[in-house]
Amino acid sequence: MNIVIAEDYDQMSRIAADTIAECVRALPDCVLGLATGSTPIGTYACLVDDCAAGKVDFSDITTFNLDEYVGLTPDHDQSYRYFMNEHLFDHVNIDKARTHVPDGSDPDAEAVCSAYDEAIFDAGGIDLQLLGLGHNGHIGFNEPADAFPVGTHIVDLTERTIQANSRLFDDASQVPRQAYTMGIGTIMGARAVLVVVSGEDKAATVKAAFQGPVRPEVPASVLQLHPNCTVVCDKAAASQLTQA
Ligand code: GLP
Repeated sequence: MNIVIAEDYDQMSRIAADTIAECVRALPDCVLGLATGSTPIGTYACLVDDCAAGKVDFSDITTFNLDEYVGLTPDHDQSYRYFMNEHLFDHVNIDKARTHVPDGSDPDAEAVCSAYDEAIFDAGGIDLQLLGLGHNGHIGFNEPADAFPVGTHIVDLTERTIQANSRLFDDASQVPRQAYTMGIGTIMGARAVLVVVSGEDKAATVKAAFQGPVRPEVPASVLQLHPNCTVVCDKAAASQLTQA
């Protein structure tokens, strides 16, 4: 695992965007796995700028997002589909028909999840998966558990995640209690993984995930076993790491 320490949030975002743009330039019809949350917003802003400047062309790529809240329609302003449109898809030359986010408005979990895994398989798998990191070490919505879930599945969100994400809703009671998420197996199947992490409040999680034992109680720790994983942290998020 390659850990890159950026000076600050802006530099972290630029490094992550350059990595993604590089992948798209090398493989114009690549399959990107995308993430939501506050952390990748700067990365997407850099990619929007790069696209406007003609430095990257998204017209042939396919994307799969990690997760979606169960019960929110794509036009709900807190749905992850809405987030992706707002921060990336509406501002670049992407073919929206080839952008995928699990359908949170469909209550048939089994159908949604198996169709999602099948679509990823049919697309040839994910070339580069972008990830944020939850405060409890979750990736996508794979919450701390006693085993690593393999495929896309429905998950009950933990109280900590509900509280953390309530800042974006009117109050915590509005936060959906469940989500559809790619599994750890789906994420580990990506040919390359890129994690972005920012802020002092994630420093202990970064230490546990990337310099602690690999265990499902800290889901992101599994990334230590990935053959091609890069973590880009700003200095604050990296502040508890010990030098190798
Ligand atoms: C959410 C998302 C994750 C994201 C995490 C961290 O719960 N499901 O994919 O990585 O929160 O979000 P943030 O970047 O806002 O801290």
